Amino acid sequence: MSLTTTQRGTVLLLGGTGKVCSRIAPLLLAAGIPPLIASRSGKAPPGLVGVRFDWDDESIWKLAFSTTGINAVFLIAPVSGDQVALVKKFVDLARERGVSRFVLLSASSLEENIMLMGKTHRYLRELGDEGKIEWTVLRPT
Ligand SMILES: NC(=O)c1ccc[n+]([C@@H]2O[C@H](COP(=O)([O-])OP(=O)(O)OC[C@H]3O[C@@H](n4cnc5c(N)ncnc54)[C@H](OP(=O)(O)O)[C@@H]3O)[C@@H](O)[C@H]2O)c1
Repeated sequence: MSLTTTQRGTVLLLGGTGKVCSRIAPLLLAAGIPPLIASRSGKAPPGLVGVRFDWDDESIWKLAFSTTGINAVFLIAPVSGDQVALVKKFVDLARERGVSRFVLLSASSLEENIMLMGKTHRYLRELGDEGKIEWTVLRPT
């Protein structure tokens, strides 16, 4: 995903305090794009803004969108529960709140539509094919 200069909103990083997002957040900052660090604790490293987010507590999901100007989400999906059902609900909420771009962290072992992130991958493609979102799926080894 690339953000053009006219489209630089805040990027919500789910799993924001984790290994992957702790590398992404400084890259966004350096590019002039503010990251919002989401995790269950709501804490963020110095110089960054954190927000509480828990896949297991839908009642607090809206907190993640109390910051204005979020137009993209880096999506680290839940590993428990019915992932695709949860992600669908979350994506619907995010779209209602103005998010138009989603980047999913999947894995090279997960082909589209087979299970877990593969199912979520398919869902993002369907929304994209309907012209409702822009999307990317990362599949590192
Ligand atoms: N590292 C890789 O190269 C790689 C590659 C492909 C896929 N993945 C997958 O991507 C995911 C993240 O990887 P990572 O290495 O960054 O993980 P990590 O270092 O273990 O970080 C996990 C992050 O998710 C948050 N988190 C945990 N449970 C949560 C919940 N119920 N709701 C919301 N947030 C929650 C954690 O913060 P709190 O504990 O504060 O909530 C933390 O920010 C993992 O599922 C991993 O299997 C990783």
